[in-house]
Amino acid sequence: MKHLMSPLDFSVEELENLFKLADDIEKNPAKYASACNGKILATCFYEPSTRTRLSFESAMLRLGGQVLGFSDASNSSAAKGESVSDTIRTVSCYADICAMRHPKEGAPMVAAEKSGIPVINAGDGGHQHPTQTLTDLLTIRSLKGHLDNLTIGLCGDLKFGRTVHSLINALVRYPNVRFVFISPEELKVPDYITDMLKEKNIPYEEVIRLENVMPTLDILYMTRVQRERFFNEEDYVRLKDFYILNTEKLALASSDMLVLHPLPRVNEISVEVDSDPRAAYFKQAQYGVYVRMALILTLLNITVA
Ligand code: CP
Repeated sequence: MKHLMSPLDFSVEELENLFKLADDIEKNPAKYASACNGKILATCFYEPSTRTRLSFESAMLRLGGQVLGFSDASNSSAAKGESVSDTIRTVSCYADICAMRHPKEGAPMVAAEKSGIPVINAGDGGHQHPTQTLTDLLTIRSLKGHLDNLTIGLCGDLKFGRTVHSLINALVRYPNVRFVFISPEELKVPDYITDMLKEKNIPYEEVIRLENVMPTLDILYMTRVQRERFFNEEDYVRLKDFYILNTEKLALASSDMLVLHPLPRVNEISVEVDSDPRAAYFKQAQYGVYVRMALILTLLNITVA
């Protein structure tokens, strides 16, 4: 039985197979409409979510399966003190596969160890968000045509942003990828990431001003400054509007640069940018359904002829 805790749980070759399956699902949805007949997905979300939970549920429903779960820990027996291990042992009696989001880093891994069904990490604290990374990679592969030979700018909260950490870990496996980290000093990418890049001889630079590097980027991955990860409100208020991508700044970018964002956004991308053809963040949310459909089929070992 396979679980998904980190994007590195799949080899580059396995990822390519997943993306080819997601491509086929996008082109031929009717072929997959009954693939999960009789199967049940549990979504156990101890933290808020719109995209991840609903795209998982949409994915299972589009595969002909059914869904159950909770979207708020206060409505589950976690509120009475039940452990994640006991919860997953119980959920294993009710469902065939589980997507779990939890504020504590490593909680889905603890669940996987006790689970009788595949567990998917749907985001654990500031640690990893592997299905967002699968979504990001599929979006780049579909819209750019390749995952190698890219200069990727990551902008905003690079310290607490789990989507950023997961994406960097996944992209380092592709040839000729270069990173530009754009953040205030307080939200710099953690040392363990820059140490890993140095060890692998992967080029990166760290800058504060977005405008200076905009023309060099193939992808600009914007992120939200996450209020829920800050220890004090004062720091959050000081940093929350540090970067705001508007049409003036976007004019400095190349005509084929892609703007991605895992969403939700707050102020970091002005709504006026949404109508620019380079703004790909809502398409990205759509790719999240195809890749989660492909993931569910893969983890349940279901093949469709
Ligand atoms: N991208 C993402 O994880 O969004 P949600 O928090 O809405 O699931």
